[in-house]
Amino acid sequence: MTIGIFDSGIGGLSILQALRALMPAQDYIYLADSAYAPYGERDAEYVLTRSRTCVQALLDEGCGMIVIACNTATALAGRALRNEYPVLPIVGIEPAIKPAAALTRNGHVGVLATQGTLASSKFLTLLDAVKAAKPQVHIHPFAPHGLALAIETQDAAQIERLSSAACQAMLGTPSGMGCDTVVLGCTHYPLIRAVLASKLGTGVQLIDPADAVAQQARQLLPDALKLRAGSGTLMLRSTGDLASLSAAIARYAA
Ligand code: DGL
Repeated sequence: MTIGIFDSGIGGLSILQALRALMPAQDYIYLADSAYAPYGERDAEYVLTRSRTCVQALLDEGCGMIVIACNTATALAGRALRNEYPVLPIVGIEPAIKPAAALTRNGHVGVLATQGTLASSKFLTLLDAVKAAKPQVHIHPFAPHGLALAIETQDAAQIERLSSAACQAMLGTPSGMGCDTVVLGCTHYPLIRAVLASKLGTGVQLIDPADAVAQQARQLLPDALKLRAGSGTLMLRSTGDLASLSAAIARYAA
């Protein structure tokens, strides 16, 4: 039995790395839906259809657990997938605004995520809950249009331009008080963590929930996988170019 992971592309590698660090004995299949990326600026129906296709492809290969390594797919398809596969352990990811609201010192938390995630009812419900629990904390969501695609295609000039604009938005909120805590709410963004950190400066902490997702996956591990020992395998699948996925693994998740 294998753990299946999917994302619209290479973003989920930040999650794969955390999973393999925590559970090195497990076998993994990573599926990048690169021919259909990005998801973040598509409608819910598109993301749901693609997510269903990815889950089915992973199940066809014998996966006994699914990790949706994509905030957008979790937000727009997570609930439907759980209803459609009630006994399959499915782990999703959401922007970590709850821990960020507990960590901020100046009360300003930024959230970088795709348009699809930020507009989803799942995110809006989470936002309301965090606001109700911590009314003194201001949450500043921002969707850097095109940034996931730029990371996916390794377009350095676009990454530079779009990440600068995103960081400016995080540092110059309408109240004039910059965010001291920024949530990486799209799994592509941790891949350019160093770029974002250098633009935001050392006073800003970046929150990436990859380790928490891996912990949750370990908790949901089916019994058949719990006692595994040895060194796990990784198989790569892509609806796009497998060579670019392999290159991205070497760069980001070696
Ligand atoms: N990596 C994905 C996420 O976490 C989506 C990026 C995209 O395809 O737009 O939201």
